[in-house]
Amino acid sequence: MGAFERVLMRAFGRPEGILGRLGGTVMARLNQPCAAWVIGLLEIRQHDRVLEIGFGPGAGIQLLAAAAPSGQVDGIDPSQEMLAQATARNAVAIARGRVGLRIGSVERLPFEDSTFDKVLAINSMQVWPDAETGLAAIRRAMKAGGAVALGFTTYSGQQPGGLIERLTAAGFVEAKLIETEKAFCVLAVKP
Ligand SMILES: C[S@@+](CC[C@H](N)C(=O)[O-])C[C@H]1O[C@@H](n2cnc3c(N)ncnc32)[C@H](O)[C@@H]1O
Repeated sequence: MGAFERVLMRAFGRPEGILGRLGGTVMARLNQPCAAWVIGLLEIRQHDRVLEIGFGPGAGIQLLAAAAPSGQVDGIDPSQEMLAQATARNAVAIARGRVGLRIGSVERLPFEDSTFDKVLAINSMQVWPDAETGLAAIRRAMKAGGAVALGFTTYSGQQPGGLIERLTAAGFVEAKLIETEKAFCVLAVKP
């Protein structure tokens, strides 16, 4: 990895230190519209149990808690800096027990099988070290009939091509890609 990629990784990929702090502030502002769009596509119901992977500064978690007011929202992210920012942003919902955030990686999801109705990740899969293992772990943690959404802004570095095939290879069905000028999202169902 070159010097520029290392800086990007520290600011956005796996935020840490001062760069990570700044990166979190930028992402909370820039990526929130994409999170709102993807959450709308997922059609979250009031009582849903939802997981966000790579929650970053926690702007998406806030929207999820509002979308499932009688449900439960969990989040995992390997970055201590992002956990700190997301915890501050969601302090009230965490204190009420409606939101649970923890350090973790998609490859080793710390949840029982068949736990979640909905799972999403925004601008995150492109930095996972092993997306195949991550997708298999997501599938395991989802209830049958549950939906997954992987959303990306056009500046994320992820290409839309091949996403449907990756989700299908991971055992999901009904995979479809939705694109706008600014973002794209692949949605799929656990059979
Ligand atoms: C570009 S940021 C996006 C953050 C947030 N979702 C947003 O849209 O603003 C990528 C996030 O994925 C997290 N991440 C990196 N590797 C991960 C992994 N293996 N499992 C889960 N999350 C990961 C990073 O710590 C970071 O918070």
